[in-house]
Amino acid sequence: MTARAGVVVVGGGQAGHSVVSALRGAGHDGPVTVLADERHLPYQRPPLSKKAHTDPDGIQVALVPESFYRERDIELRLGDRVAALDTAAQAVVTESGTRVPYDHLVLATGARNRALPVPGADVPGVHALRSLDDAVAIGKALGTAGNVVVVGGGFIGLELAQVAAAVGAQVTVVELAGRLLSRAVSPQLQEHLRQRHERGGVRILTGTAVRAIEGTGRVERVVTDREVLTADLVVYGIGAAPRDELAREAGLAVDDGVIVDEQLCSITDARISAVGDCARHPHPHAAGLVRLESVQNATDQGTLVGRRIAGSPAPYRSLPWFWSDQGAVKLQIAGLRTDTDEVLVVPGDSPERLAAYSFRAGRLVAVETLNWPAEHLAARRLLERTAPVFRSDLTGSTLGALARARRSVEVRT
Ligand code: NAI
Repeated sequence: MTARAGVVVVGGGQAGHSVVSALRGAGHDGPVTVLADERHLPYQRPPLSKKAHTDPDGIQVALVPESFYRERDIELRLGDRVAALDTAAQAVVTESGTRVPYDHLVLATGARNRALPVPGADVPGVHALRSLDDAVAIGKALGTAGNVVVVGGGFIGLELAQVAAAVGAQVTVVELAGRLLSRAVSPQLQEHLRQRHERGGVRILTGTAVRAIEGTGRVERVVTDREVLTADLVVYGIGAAPRDELAREAGLAVDDGVIVDEQLCSITDARISAVGDCARHPHPHAAGLVRLESVQNATDQGTLVGRRIAGSPAPYRSLPWFWSDQGAVKLQIAGLRTDTDEVLVVPGDSPERLAAYSFRAGRLVAVETLNWPAEHLAARRLLERTAPVFRSDLTGSTLGALARARRSVEVRT
């Protein structure tokens, strides 16, 4: 039997789910198929590094129940990895040998964790965290772990460090770079974050390289270039790389992500789109092409492509924003910090609140906040508007006050 061609989405994560949800939401009534390599229903990843320890076996993260797909006539094929794209014949081929034809193909393949390049990284008790299965394994191991070593002081590492500290483990974070979160957070804000982690009992070693992981049958030690750390659980989060190999092997333009235009179509083949962590795209807030790893980006890009296929095209312009819950600290970021040349740190109205405004040539382009959701939302409102905010607009004013003032001017005029 030959399947009817329609929209085929490769990847059952947040981005893939958003595509099909938007397609049906916009009234598209042709065949829609999602091909996912994991066996779970599409699920949310953010809770995995924040909540897995509370109930590893009972963790509920599905984005929607299975009935959502059934009621919308969306075919969800779980547990069958796509092995190749046949772009000439407009079909994908799965590992089980099934050929699925497409009119339009959406790559929503996400990213994979970078592997830890040291001897012993495969010893039992050493985990990476990306999938639900990873989170369940880590959650169970945390139940008995006394000494936890976290390799990588990025988002995953710092969230998990707090989770491990919350269950009473002795936690050490080993970060190769000279500071934490160097990919996404300003030096000024990371210093405050570091102090808060250390005050909470997490030990942080920056500028430190892991040389080896050792143990007989199970992890016992992490050897660094400074000291040997006792460990009965090691979790590493040392960054991610896009899963763009299907596109590369099919001859699409790829450079650390599938290169797409402002409507998120492959620049090589207009019958293929890419969304989420695996897409490298132009953005009005970036100087060149960017690839963003966030729920906001996956959701908004998926929605944009779903609506485009359903007949309402638009360029991708959503303001990037991120969040990370690290124990009692909620870090939120609005905008992109790349190529910024000045950072202004602004204390909030209580000691745990703080904001850092980042400027590019005097113009506000990104705002990081700690425990200050109202200021984050004000930042998003201001950065989404076309009227720029300049350094000179901010003397003695929070963004919340500025947003209110600008809104009242807009209402009057
Ligand atoms: P990351 O890029 O945030 O942080 C990786 C950290 O590991 C960096 O600080 C880097 O300097 C360090 N590192 C690299 N090589 C190292 C080595 N050999 N030894 C020690 N440190 C090393 O990536 P992370 O934390 O792995 O997260 C992976 C993905 O998950 C990203 O896409 C991230 O955005 C996403 N994520 C996002 C969250 C959020 O937005 N709240 C939460 C958790 C994950």
